[in-house]
Parts: sequence; C-alpha cells; structure tokens
Amino acid sequence: MGGNIECCSILTPQNISIFVPIKKLFKMSKAISGFSKRTKDEKIDWLASEVLPDFKDFKSTLHQYWNANKALQALHDDFVENTISNFYLPFAVAPNFLIDGKKYVVPMAIEESSVVAGASMVAKFWSKRGGFKTTVISTVKTGQVHFIYIGAKADLEAYFNQIKPKLFSATSSLTKNMQQRGGGISAIELRDKTASLKNYYQLHVSFDTKDSMGANFINSCLEKMAETFKSESATLNIKIVMSILSNYVPDCLVRAEVSCPVTELYHENALENAQKFIEAVKIAKVEPYRAVTHNKGIMNGVDAVVIATGNDFRAIEAGVHAYASRSGTYQSLSDAEIKDGRFKFWIELPLAVGTVGGLTALHPLAKIALALLQNPSAKELMAIIAAAGLAQNFAALRALTTKGIQHGHMKMHFTNLLASLKTSPSEKEQLRLLFKDKTINYAAVNEALLAIRKQKNTL
Ligand code: MEV
Repeated sequence: MGGNIECCSILTPQNISIFVPIKKLFKMSKAISGFSKRTKDEKIDWLASEVLPDFKDFKSTLHQYWNANKALQALHDDFVENTISNFYLPFAVAPNFLIDGKKYVVPMAIEESSVVAGASMVAKFWSKRGGFKTTVISTVKTGQVHFIYIGAKADLEAYFNQIKPKLFSATSSLTKNMQQRGGGISAIELRDKTASLKNYYQLHVSFDTKDSMGANFINSCLEKMAETFKSESATLNIKIVMSILSNYVPDCLVRAEVSCPVTELYHENALENAQKFIEAVKIAKVEPYRAVTHNKGIMNGVDAVVIATGNDFRAIEAGVHAYASRSGTYQSLSDAEIKDGRFKFWIELPLAVGTVGGLTALHPLAKIALALLQNPSAKELMAIIAAAGLAQNFAALRALTTKGIQHGHMKMHFTNLLASLKTSPSEKEQLRLLFKDKTINYAAVNEALLAIRKQKNTL
C-alpha cells in the first residue's frame, strides 16, 4: 500500500510500480465465480461480452474448430476444465526410420515447418548407413516423500529400518497389478538432506512402471507410504511436507547412435565438413547460450513424438533439461567424434514415457500414433524418441555448418508465405521460379505478386 489510503501500488508486467485507485483495482481483478459450472456456450458468451467485445469473428472461429462428431468433441472437452474449442497441431509422419534393424514410420505432432521434413530426410540418409542403434540403459523412476524431522538421526534410522517392510506391505493392494506385470517398488531409501535444509529428510523411492508412465501409480504409492510412515511414528517428531514423483529421471535413460565412414557423410569436403560438425557439438558442450538452442533442436524431434503418442511433454522437457545441467553447467545432450576414419554421433536422454494407460488409451490419434509404431513397449518408444531427437539434431547441425539454417527454413517458410498471400497455383509457380535463387522475405514476395497481378490485369 502507498501512503494514500485510496491507492495501492501494483507492478506492471514491465516491472514498473504504478499507483492505482483501490476502487479501480477491485473492478479490474474482480473474480468471476462459478465459471467452471457454466455450459460451454455460456462461457463463450461471457468471454465475448466481458473480455473480447471487439474481437471480430470470436465465436465463429471457436466454433470452426469444434468437432462435428459430438462424442469426440465431448471426449476433448473433458480432458481439461473450461474447454471452449480445440487447438490443432499438424499430425504428420516421418518415414524411413531404421532403428535397431526395424523400419518405422514416426508420427510427429508439431507446428514448426522444417521439423518433419528434416526428420524424414535424415531418417532416409541414415537408413542407408545402418540406421540408428539404441540401448535402454535403465528404466528406474523415482518418487519422494519429503518430510521434516526434529530429533536424533539414529532414532530416525532405527525407525526407518523397522517400518520399511510395512511401507512395502501398506502399498501391496496398489502394487499388486504392477507386480504381476513385473514392475512395482524396487527400493525405499531414507535420505538425509539436512546439509541442504535444516531437518529435511526424504523417503527416496524407486519404481519400475513397465509400459505405463505410471504417474498416478507412483503418487498413490507415495501417499500411502507417507500415511503409514507418519501414523506409526508415535514418539518421533515427523512432519510430512509432500509426496510426489520426480520428473528428474536420470536412471530412466536411453542412448541412440549413428555412425558411418567419414567419407560417406558428405558429397564434398567430407573430412572438413565432419570436423566442423564436431566443433559445433563441442561448442554446445562448453557454451550454454549455444547448448540451449542445440538442445531445443533435439527437443523439436523428441516433443513431436512425445505429443503424438499421448505422453507428457512438460515432464519430458523438465527432466531432459535437468539432465543437461547435471554437471553444474548446461550442456549439449549429444556427442560426436571421428575415430579411425569413422564418424559417430550419439545422444543420451532421460525419457520416462508410457505406451499404455493415460492419454495413450484415450486419445484416438495417440492410438494411431502407437499403432504406426507397431505398438511399441515403453522401452522401444524410448529408443524411437531418442532416434527422432538425434535425427533432428543431425539435420540442424549439418545445415548450420554448411549452407546455414535459413536455406532450408526459407523453403518451408516460402510455402507458408504463398499460402498466406492467397496465391493461385499459377502465381505460386511463377513466384517459385522468380525466387529460386533469391532471398525470400514477405515484402519482396508481396511486391512480386502485385507485379504479376498487375501485369495480368493489363493484358
Ligand atoms: C530451430 O527450431 C532449431 C535450431 O535452432 C536448432 C539448432 O540451432 O541446433 C535449428
């Protein structure tokens, strides 16, 4: 509050402090109640009248994206609260992936124009050079019960050792099905974190969730464990803070690799180009500004397959970037070398994904994506996603260290530009010819189009 009782200081998005009359602030921030209980049409009416009164075609645009199939629309409406329409992403495929000797058509849900083209081109390139070789290194997922304990550490340790079998048995009704599939809880450890935070300890729990992502399973087990851990600890001063899985999964790790003789890597100047490629990877190992963009290119491939297969891309993103920082410096996720005349390029990624349950079972397109991948196990999906990430990284680095990224990007951009300018097929053809060897930008293409149209009108 400022000195003036009628005014209040607030921060703008630009971090500038301004004084606003309290009455006005109240009106601006007045909450709408019962919004989620309104029907979809009522929500849209409210938005149209209260939030976007001047937005032309607001309602009709939202309606355009509704699915005519009512049952399908209802399915999507129910995924989240307050759905007012659908937000489409292109659902594409990149053929010619050869992974561990098996051919795949890889589904990708992504809006970025050059990603699928890049993946397809690189998949074909490596399919003629032995394809992608992968190894699933481990599949351990982690969850933690975070708690505060005030007392002697030895007493806590003694209690933990005594209660540990009960922590397993308390969750047996939850783990029964998972155990039948060969998974379950593999370890429960007591971890002392008091060096980082006073009185802070954890139950650090390892899980194997087989082909499911297992988030609900892990969280249910942890909450049950926390309940048992607290309720049996009558004489100990334990306060449970929270129980939750971790999206940091450094032990749910897959490696993908491609390799070939250096001479097969480029048509011209193979060794020189390959060395430049390796220097680009080395730069991303030591320079975080570059590493972030390098890894963003990897995630173009990873996220597209993660989304298409109905997995949680936020979880994957968070886990992957934490892994990229594990040395204390944010680094490239991929590596490359030339040894004995062979070029080798590889990646290690932490990927906790599922191929059963969750959205994979609910979303019709996720089902198709998994069917296209021949209904893989979670381990196979890890391998496919890592290959897609490596392919994308290869496409980006090869372009960056030779023709530059804009060459390919602009080709795709040109297609979008022609569509946005509402060009006819013959105008498209003429413009493509005109700009074959020219730099593409909106103003230049628009000007050329106007000239074409003007000439046509004067004929
Ligand atoms: C663009 O989406 C991705 C790239 O910037 C990746 C990279 O620079 O390595 C091309």
